[in-house]
Amino acid sequence: MPTLQLGDVAPDFTAPTTEGDLNLYGYLGDSWGILFSHPADFTPVCTTELGRVAALKPEWDKRNTKVVALSVDSVDSHEKWTDDIGETQGTALNFPLIADTDRKVADLYGMIHPNASNTTTVRSVFVVGPDKKVKLSLTYPASTGRNFDEIVRVLDSLQLTAAHKVATPVDWQDGDDVIIPTAISNEQAEELFPKGFTEHKPYLRTTPQPNK
Ligand code: BEZ
Repeated sequence: MPTLQLGDVAPDFTAPTTEGDLNLYGYLGDSWGILFSHPADFTPVCTTELGRVAALKPEWDKRNTKVVALSVDSVDSHEKWTDDIGETQGTALNFPLIADTDRKVADLYGMIHPNASNTTTVRSVFVVGPDKKVKLSLTYPASTGRNFDEIVRVLDSLQLTAAHKVATPVDWQDGDDVIIPTAISNEQAEELFPKGFTEHKPYLRTTPQPNK
């Protein structure tokens, strides 16, 4: 299976989860989606990550985004482990956790990297748009927990740039000024951005975030 690239259609699948069988497209509906894998249940970094994703539920909801996690452990293992997540991280699991014991989904999404482990998934993240296309992919090793605040920030950028002809600069946060792409002329920019824009260089123009 070739590596999934940005703009590829996210493969659909049906798999067992802690909330029963889940069909990805059915679960996502018209929402944005985040599919992310972790190496194994009952491991420390993964416990902190899943607790954090659960605590961020209001942020996912605000952004019309549904999350789903995956590892190659069984539903039985997931269910036993989720008690520990609630107990140690302060938020009970509030999204489905796929039991990919046959690695069907892991193989579809290239989540097993044999140089890291032949048997368990690395820390992959796929952001899927409402059109079911891959908008972002990230891969972290088992030893490094992800920063899910960054995933929220990327979602803000992806959703903003899907709706407006802008790009977001380094370290951008929701509400900051945004960049006008070079394909837009100054004349077009005057029409598109009534709040005005600053020309720092002919190729570097910024404008207040259009939807604020
Ligand atoms: C962890 O979640 O702590 C972990 C999982 C697999 C390998 C190394 C660390």
